[in-house]
Amino acid sequence: MRVSVIGCGYLGAVHAAAMASIGHDVIGIDVDARKVESLSRGEAPFFEPGLPEILGDGLASGRLRFSTDIADTRGADVHFIAVGTPQLPGAHAADLQYVDAAVTALMPVLRPGDIVAGKSTVPVGTAADLAVRIASVGATLVWNPEFLREGWAVQDTVSPDRIVVGVPAGDAGVHAQAMLRQVYHTAVAADTPFLTTDYATAELVKVSANAFLATKISFINAMAEIAEVTGADVTQLADAIGLDERIGRRFLGAGIGFGGGCLPKDIRAFSARAEELGKSEAVAFLREVDAINLRRRDRAVQLTVDALDGSVFNKRVTVLGAAFKPHSDDVRDSPALDVAVRLHGLGAQVTVTDPAAIENARLIHPQLTYVADRDDALRAADIVVVVTEWDEYRRQLSPEQAAALVSGRVVVDGRNCLDAAVWRASGWTYYGMGRP
Ligand code: UDX
Repeated sequence: MRVSVIGCGYLGAVHAAAMASIGHDVIGIDVDARKVESLSRGEAPFFEPGLPEILGDGLASGRLRFSTDIADTRGADVHFIAVGTPQLPGAHAADLQYVDAAVTALMPVLRPGDIVAGKSTVPVGTAADLAVRIASVGATLVWNPEFLREGWAVQDTVSPDRIVVGVPAGDAGVHAQAMLRQVYHTAVAADTPFLTTDYATAELVKVSANAFLATKISFINAMAEIAEVTGADVTQLADAIGLDERIGRRFLGAGIGFGGGCLPKDIRAFSARAEELGKSEAVAFLREVDAINLRRRDRAVQLTVDALDGSVFNKRVTVLGAAFKPHSDDVRDSPALDVAVRLHGLGAQVTVTDPAAIENARLIHPQLTYVADRDDALRAADIVVVVTEWDEYRRQLSPEQAAALVSGRVVVDGRNCLDAAVWRASGWTYYGMGRP
C-alpha cells in the first residue's frame, strides 16, 4: 500500500519507518526541513532502540522517503496524521493547531476514497469535527490511536497489544476498517485484537488508558506517603497487592513519579475536556493523581536535604539520571531533571549524568553541570541521588565501586531500584521512597 505520515516527530518518525518495515511504500512529511534532512540520511532525531535499523533498511529499500512538501503525499491510500498535541501554554487543554494545520494542508491532496487516519492524542470530539471537513472531498476519516511507549516504540508499533480504529457508520466505515486491516497486515495475521469503534470511543480509549496508567502510579505513590508515616515498605506492599491478578504488579513502581511527553499532559488535557463537557466531576480524581505525582518530587528533594542534615548548600550532589525514564533521551517534564533543578536551586553543586539524555537536558537547563561518564560524575560526591532507573545504575553499579569514588556514602534512591540491603551492607546510608 501507499502510505503517508504527516508529522515526523516521535510518533510519526517511528510510524513511518515501521510502516516501511512491513512492506508499505511510505512518504513521511514534516515542516521542519532539518528533521527531514536528518531522517533522509537515516539519522533518527532522537534516541529510540531499533529505530536507526528500520530507518536505514527502509531508506535503502527505496520504500521510505521524507519530504517537506505535502503534495508528495498525493496518491497515498492512507494518510496518517501524527503531529503533536502539546499542552497549551498557561492552560491544561491540548493545543490542536498542528492537527488543524495538517488537515488543512492535506485537503487539496485528498481524492475521493482516500483514508485519513488520525493517530495524534486529541480531546474527545475532535475526530467528529475533522470528519466533516474530510468527507467534503469524499475521503474518510478514521481514528487510530497510538499506544507506543518510548524505548519500545518500534515493537509497540509493529506488534501492538491491540489496534483500535474509530470509524464512521455505513459503507465508508466498513471500507475504512478493511483498509486499516490491510495496513496492519502483519499484526492482523498475528491475531492482534482489532477493535472497531465509533470516533469518540477510539479517542477516549487513548486518554483513558493513559489516565488509568497515571492513576495506578499515583495510587502506589499515595501508598508510599502512608508507608512513610507508618514504617511500612511500599515495594513489599506493591509485590503483595500486585500478586492479585486483578491488580497486577506492573505500573506499581513507587518513586518520583511519572513524567514525559504523554501522561502528564494527557491527564491535564482530559480534565480540561471533561470540564468543557460539563463533566469535570467525573475525572476530578485526576487532579489528585497529578498532585500526588508532583509531591513525590518534593519528597525526593526533602529526603536529600534531610540526609545532609538539613542543607544541601554547597554540597556536591551527583544526580544519576536526567531522562524521564530509562531507554529514552526524552527530558520533557522529566521528574529526574526537576529534582536536579530544585536541588541546584537550594544551592547544591549538582552534577548530572545520564547515558542518553545529557544533550537534551543541557538545552533546557544549562545551569546544571553535566558529566557524560558515570564514574567521573560520582567522584567526590557528598550524596548520590538516583532518579532514572537505567541499568547503568540499577544493575551495573556496585556499591563498592561507587564507595571508592564518592566522599560521602549516602544514596537517595528516587526510583526504589537499588537493592537497599546490599548497599547498606557496603556501608552506605540508603534512603528509598516509601521505605523505612
Ligand atoms: C506512556 C504510555 O505507557 C503509552 O502507552 C502511551 O502511548 C504514551 O504514554 P511513555 O510516556 O513512553 O508511555 O512512558 P511510560 O513507560 O508509560 O512511563 C511514564 C512515566 O511513568 C515515566 O516517567 C516512568 O518513570 C513512570 N513510571 C512508570 C513510574 O513512575 N512507575 C511505574 O511503575 C511505571
